[in-house]
Amino acid sequence: VTIDFDLAPSPPDPDVVGRFRRAREDGTLAVLEGFHAVKHALRFGAEILDVVVEGDASRLEALAGALAPDVLDELRARAQPVDAETFAALVSPRPPTGVAALARRPPGRMVEVLAGPGPGPIVLLDRPRQLGNVGAAIRVAAAAGAEAVAVTGTADPWHPAAIRGAAGLQFALPVGRIGDTAGVARPVVAIDPGGEPLTPGAVPPGAVLAFGSERHGLSEAWRERAEVDLALPMRPGVSSLNLAAAVAASLYVLAARG
Ligand SMILES: C[S@@+](CC[C@H](N)C(=O)[O-])C[C@H]1O[C@@H](n2cnc3c(N)ncnc32)[C@H](O)[C@@H]1O
Repeated sequence: VTIDFDLAPSPPDPDVVGRFRRAREDGTLAVLEGFHAVKHALRFGAEILDVVVEGDASRLEALAGALAPDVLDELRARAQPVDAETFAALVSPRPPTGVAALARRPPGRMVEVLAGPGPGPIVLLDRPRQLGNVGAAIRVAAAAGAEAVAVTGTADPWHPAAIRGAAGLQFALPVGRIGDTAGVARPVVAIDPGGEPLTPGAVPPGAVLAFGSERHGLSEAWRERAEVDLALPMRPGVSSLNLAAAVAASLYVLAARG
């Protein structure tokens, strides 16, 4: 597919570097690095503030034509070309697709979601450490149709590295941080290697699925709050799955119930 972009050369925007730098410190904004993150943000209705493309528009033209014709018009209207040096100052690390954007984070709805009745499941990541895992968990939660992803601890699920890991799918479902178990009105299921085998029927409708941290597993507060502990069976000798792999396997076991 060939699409002609009409990106007429325009004077360089002197403050684009400043806007990206300030956005990294601003909890209301999101820095999107890479074409797939920008594509998903547009597709799921993000309020986009800036889109930049490294070099001329031919790369963006090819990517959008092949992968995202549905967001092509909006990309065409918004993309501003920047030189390689400017692009390198906006991103870290440099995405091979040469595309980046700034967007406004949607207003937080996690308190309201956790207090509501469903439909569930909600993925709860308890004090995760690795932003790549947080992003991968958000990505599979969006793909498998989970209701939301809530995160405790210090990892920001809207950090640029988590957005890269999720390919921008933070915009597809409510994603945010919570303090602790207070305010969770749903049934809670601990997903833990020491539990009973996970079957679709063992998980109540609307449940919060609580996953522990990479190193320490689930904290005592969530273990106590959970009404049941469920495990993904593993071959003897294997101690645990990667966190994001456990989220993926659990959600697709539940998806099997329809
Ligand atoms: C890398 S594991 C944590 C391992 C930690 N040392 C422990 O003993 O729990 C991260 C999280 O993934 C989930 N997980 C990993 N493997 C699992 C399994 N086989 N069954 C259920 N949950 C699992 C759990 O929520 C766990 O807390």
